[in-house]
Amino acid sequence: MKQKVTIVGAGNVGATTAQRIFDKGQADVVLVDIVDGLPQGKALDMLESGPILGSDSSIIGTNSYEPTENSDVVVITSGIARKPGMSRDDLLLTNMKIVTSVIKETSKYSPDAVHVIVTNPLDAMAQQALKVSGLKPSKVFGMAGILDTARYRTFISQELNVSVDSVSAYVLGGHGDTMVPVIGTTNVAGTPITRLIDPVRLEEIVQRARDGGAEIVNYLKTGSAFYAPSASITQMVEAILLDKKEILPCTAYLEGQYGIDGLYVGVPVKLGSNGIEEIIELELNSDELSALQKSADAVRELVEIMDKS
Ligand SMILES: NC(=O)c1ccc[n+]([C@@H]2O[C@H](COP(=O)([O-])OP(=O)(O)OC[C@H]3O[C@@H](n4cnc5c(N)ncnc54)[C@H](O)[C@@H]3O)[C@@H](O)[C@H]2O)c1
Repeated sequence: MKQKVTIVGAGNVGATTAQRIFDKGQADVVLVDIVDGLPQGKALDMLESGPILGSDSSIIGTNSYEPTENSDVVVITSGIARKPGMSRDDLLLTNMKIVTSVIKETSKYSPDAVHVIVTNPLDAMAQQALKVSGLKPSKVFGMAGILDTARYRTFISQELNVSVDSVSAYVLGGHGDTMVPVIGTTNVAGTPITRLIDPVRLEEIVQRARDGGAEIVNYLKTGSAFYAPSASITQMVEAILLDKKEILPCTAYLEGQYGIDGLYVGVPVKLGSNGIEEIIELELNSDELSALQKSADAVRELVEIMDKS
C-alpha cells in the first residue's frame, strides 16, 4: 500500500502541491476543501493525467475528513492569501480560526500524521496548530525557510551566473520581514559568498529575497505565490515519506535552542518519517543571533494577539 498524504485547501498552493505529489507517484493523495466540487474536480482532473505521466497513485477530492483517515502526512494550506498592500500578519485572525477547525479534524482522523503547516502568517499558525491539536512539536511544523532560501539562492545564482545547484544557503527566522539569511553559511561551491559579492549588492539581494512574496503578490494582484511554495512543501513531504533525514530550514518549535523558548521560528532541522528528528544549531555570529531573536519577538507579538482574541 502506498503512503497517504492529505492536503487541506484546494486553492493555488494546495492543488499545485497535490499535483506535484501525485505526479511523483510515491503516495496516494486526498485533497480537502470547504468549497463543494472544487477538490473533487481538481483531483479527478489530476487522476486523469496519471496514464500520461505514469503515476499509479490515487487522488480523491472531498469536503469531509473521513477519507483522510490514517494519513502519513497532512499539509494545511487552507486560509486566505494576501492581496496587494496586505502583510502576512493581516491574515492572522481569519486564518487562525480556519487552521484551528482544520487541525482538530485532521488530528482526530490521523493522530500519528506529521502535519506541515503552510497557511500564513506561518509561524503564528504553526503555534496555533500545536496548541489546539495536542500533537507533539516534532510532528507539527511549518514550511517557509525552504521557500525563502530558494528565493535567495535564485537571486545569487542569477547574480553570479552559476547553477542554482552550486549555491548553498540557509535562511532562518520568521517568514516575513524578519527573515535571517545566514551569510556565514552562504557559499558557491565552497567559496564564501562574501568573497564573490560585495556587501552592498549582497544586502540588495537579501532584501529582494525578503520581499520575494510581495514582489509576486504585486504582479498577480489577486493572490500570492504558489509554484515555488508548492515545490518547497513537496521537498518536505518527500523527506518525510522517504525517511531521508534531510536537513532543511523549517519552522520548528524551539525549546531553548538559539536562546528561544516555547516559540516557532525557522531553523534547520533533520526531517524523516518521524517528522523533526533533530533541531540543528548552527553557529551564528552575534548579529545573526540577535536578528533571529528579533524575528522570534515578532512571532511572539502575533501569538499574544491570538491569545487575547
Ligand atoms: N508558508 C509559506 O511560505 C506560504 C507560501 C504561499 C502561500 N502561503 C499561504 O497559504 C495559504 C493558501 O494560499 P493559496 O494561494 O493556496 O490561497 P487560495 O485562496 O488559492 O486557496 C485557499 C483555499 O483554502 C480553502 N479553505 C478556506 N477555508 C477552509 C476550511 N475551513 N477548510 C478547508 N478549506 C478551506 C479555500 O476554499 C481555498 O480553496 C495562504 O494563507 C497563503 O498566505 C504560505
